[in-house]
Amino acid sequence: MAIASAINGAVRRVPAWPLYILGAAYVGWEFWSALTQQGAYAVEPINVLERQYGEAALLLLIAGLAVTPLRVWTGVNLIKFRRAIGLLAFFLVLAHFLVFVLLDVQSLSRVVTEVVKRPYVTVGFAAFVLLIPLALTSNNRAIRKLGPVRWRHLHKLVYPAAVLGALHYVWLVKGWPREPFIYMAVVIALLTLRLKWSQIRTLFVRRSRPADAS
Ligand code: HEM
Repeated sequence: MAIASAINGAVRRVPAWPLYILGAAYVGWEFWSALTQQGAYAVEPINVLERQYGEAALLLLIAGLAVTPLRVWTGVNLIKFRRAIGLLAFFLVLAHFLVFVLLDVQSLSRVVTEVVKRPYVTVGFAAFVLLIPLALTSNNRAIRKLGPVRWRHLHKLVYPAAVLGALHYVWLVKGWPREPFIYMAVVIALLTLRLKWSQIRTLFVRRSRPADAS
């Protein structure tokens, strides 16, 4: 726990705002690399960009889900970065979606057709839709307006969104590449950990209630 305290002490001195700058720089850099067709972008730059943003979005969703288990298991508290991580995940999904709409299919009617006809796109779109209210309410004003309990309930939508995001990846690949399955396994593991805690907490509260009452 001494290491965790040292990390927490260091974290207290680091503000969250540079994460937004890093996120914007990442989006810009990848876009520029696609535009100039550098490195991995030499062939099919639009497709590579779309995939790059999609994968970064999934990674950030997972990072956001990992914040609480990390605190519970190791004592390392990164909660001050969670809002930034969540918002960046949303903006990466938005960038991924915009590349799909504006550069890939380039037609609104085809977007609708793709969403309706291709199950993996339907699932990705559903994850995106679930993330919209979360992004809109990731600010202090919304927390005050909704109240912490309703806000926390609403933000549980991140769990199905992460599962759908991972499923979208598993569904779209052909064959059996390892990566999408690893993402799905990590998402399920993180959600299972949460389920267990809430069950333990419920049990604990139930057991302690008679004693509290007496
Ligand atoms: C939470 C939401 C989403 C996540 C986490 C996500 C994530 C991903 C990931 C990880 C990939 C594969 C990247 C790779 O191969 O390295 C991908 C591909 C793709 N995504 Fe998404 N996605 C989301 C939402 C969407 C939405 C809303 C759309 C469109 C309506 C979409 C359309 C696509 C398409 C078409 C591909 C395949 C690109 C290709 O290879 O042709 N995704 N996405």
